[in-house]
Amino acid sequence: MPSGITPEFLEDLKSRCDIVRIAQKYMPVERKGSRFWARCPFHHEKTASFMLDQTSQFYHCFGCGVSGDVIGFVRAIENVDFFDAVRLLCEDANIPMPELKMNDVKDIEDRKKRKDRLLRLMKDTANFYYKKLLEEEGRAALTYLQNRGVTPESRKAFALGYSPDLSSLVKALSQHGYTEEEMISAGVVGSKNGRVYDFLTDRLIYPIVNSFGDVIAFGGRSLEKKPDFAKYKNTGDTPLFNKKQNLYAINLVKAYKREQTVEDIIVVEGYMDVIALHQAGFRNTVASMGTALTKEQARMLKRYADKVYICYDGDAAGQKGAIRGMEILAEEGLKVFVVSLPDGLDPDELIKERGKEAYRKALSEALPLVDFKLLALKKEFDVSSVDGKRQYALAAVKVIALQSEPIMHESLLRRIHEETGFMMVTLQKNLDQIKQNQKPEAELLVEERSAEEDKNTDLLRVLLYVQLYGLIPMDELSNVRAAFTDACHLQILSYLDACCEAAQKPQPTMLFELLDPSYANEIGAVLSVDRTFSSTEQMVSYAKDVQKRLVQEYLEKAINALSERATHETDPEVRKNTLSELVALKKQLRLMKLKT
Ligand code: UTP
Ligand code: MN
Repeated sequence: MPSGITPEFLEDLKSRCDIVRIAQKYMPVERKGSRFWARCPFHHEKTASFMLDQTSQFYHCFGCGVSGDVIGFVRAIENVDFFDAVRLLCEDANIPMPELKMNDVKDIEDRKKRKDRLLRLMKDTANFYYKKLLEEEGRAALTYLQNRGVTPESRKAFALGYSPDLSSLVKALSQHGYTEEEMISAGVVGSKNGRVYDFLTDRLIYPIVNSFGDVIAFGGRSLEKKPDFAKYKNTGDTPLFNKKQNLYAINLVKAYKREQTVEDIIVVEGYMDVIALHQAGFRNTVASMGTALTKEQARMLKRYADKVYICYDGDAAGQKGAIRGMEILAEEGLKVFVVSLPDGLDPDELIKERGKEAYRKALSEALPLVDFKLLALKKEFDVSSVDGKRQYALAAVKVIALQSEPIMHESLLRRIHEETGFMMVTLQKNLDQIKQNQKPEAELLVEERSAEEDKNTDLLRVLLYVQLYGLIPMDELSNVRAAFTDACHLQILSYLDACCEAAQKPQPTMLFELLDPSYANEIGAVLSVDRTFSSTEQMVSYAKDVQKRLVQEYLEKAINALSERATHETDPEVRKNTLSELVALKKQLRLMKLKT
């Protein structure tokens, strides 16, 4: 066996460390048919949706979407990095840990090195800002914090800082040996006319830290109200950060959860709200940073608690995007409560003006999401008129129908009955109709589209699956390339290409090691897509159909585009070429159709 952590070594290690056996060390596992099931150790759940596939040696949770192979499992459950996970498995298998040469997986190492450098750059940047806040230049910012009641303890806990000018950070980072390209990639500088500058200049700095304690981004608040000047600027999307997939202060909530049980999490909008709440003892608070909540954030929250209080400023909670975000949390299985604060105050102001007891009271009066939605509806219609009442009742019944707990339906209906005076039987009949999908057309259309999109993703997954497991010859995918757009799918395709070139059989679970860790969940979804088929033969024939259809669609599109071009082309020579190209494509399409 070659030295170093080579793909061969990893395959060997993985074959010695059966994922089911390893998982059983941590939790009870139950066999059902050919697969094993457990309650997911990575999110709270009551029924087992965590699947272990012994044949392919990977796990996938149908509840929270996490996936990985045995190495990924140990990483996640032990909270260790790749190398330590390998070390632990070597101990388990009683084989020596190889020297870290990484010849064949050099690529992984390079990527990891680069990521580590960017993380270090972010940490150095945070330190720079932190120190500047305490120096002469930071005096105004420090005073500002004091005036807003932020204690030195909070300043430290949140590692707040200050950016003094356009160039000092760039200089400091250069002295630490970072290149401008790295600064741009990490998102800490902007660049204009070939010069880079600190894009958070003269702002109070809020470092954004992930659950592993890494600084991954910054928010910067302008100290004064200036016209045409954004109050906050934030790091844009970088390899380290995506605003929609992170929650401000999740690191502190994680630390808090280590100290004691956390039953619920409060989600607010702003950095300042988080700080004020933590300071007042509500240490289970995170901020969504001003955007509507996403599935990724829902899953993140679910790892810490299964009840969430949404506490937005003033009318913000009632906005469509905000409500949709809360529904996403509910769809992921979280119990969602909506907190209303009095008199248009935000959490920070409420605590300052009326104390933490006032905030605690607001929490205790929070409404379950469905009640909140019904209340919002009631404000939307004029329920003093008969027509308004009817519209309200109809809309309300729709909201109720979406409630996942049918046990609640009756009491909610009764409430609508009391509010509007419509008879229970009428309301019940309406509810039944809606449940049987007799919905107004507009809504049906929306639903069909998203179901269609889901189907499309699954179909592409099937195509990747059959290639990865060698069920269809590798080269046959080449003509459906255009259908793939998902970044993870494209990487899987490159892997397949590499295997094809090297005339090697793909090792599907090796993808967990070769691709970026953020793709692990999608990889798991691809590798488990076979569960929807009753047999391999059925899957292969489905894949072939899909493939044919995609090629046809592709040809038809190309033909349309070419004929369009041919009609408008004035140059006779070009026109002639276009036409002959067209003929060739049409012939190809005809042949395809003949075959089917
Ligand atoms: P708020 O305006 O409520 O911010 O926006 P805040 O944290 O309460 O700030 P203070 O009290 O005025 O200091 C909520 C969040 O929305 C995002 C930020 O994450 C902010 O914390 N936001 C807001 C932006 O990203 N850009 C903006 O221009 C404004
Ligand atoms: Mn505020």
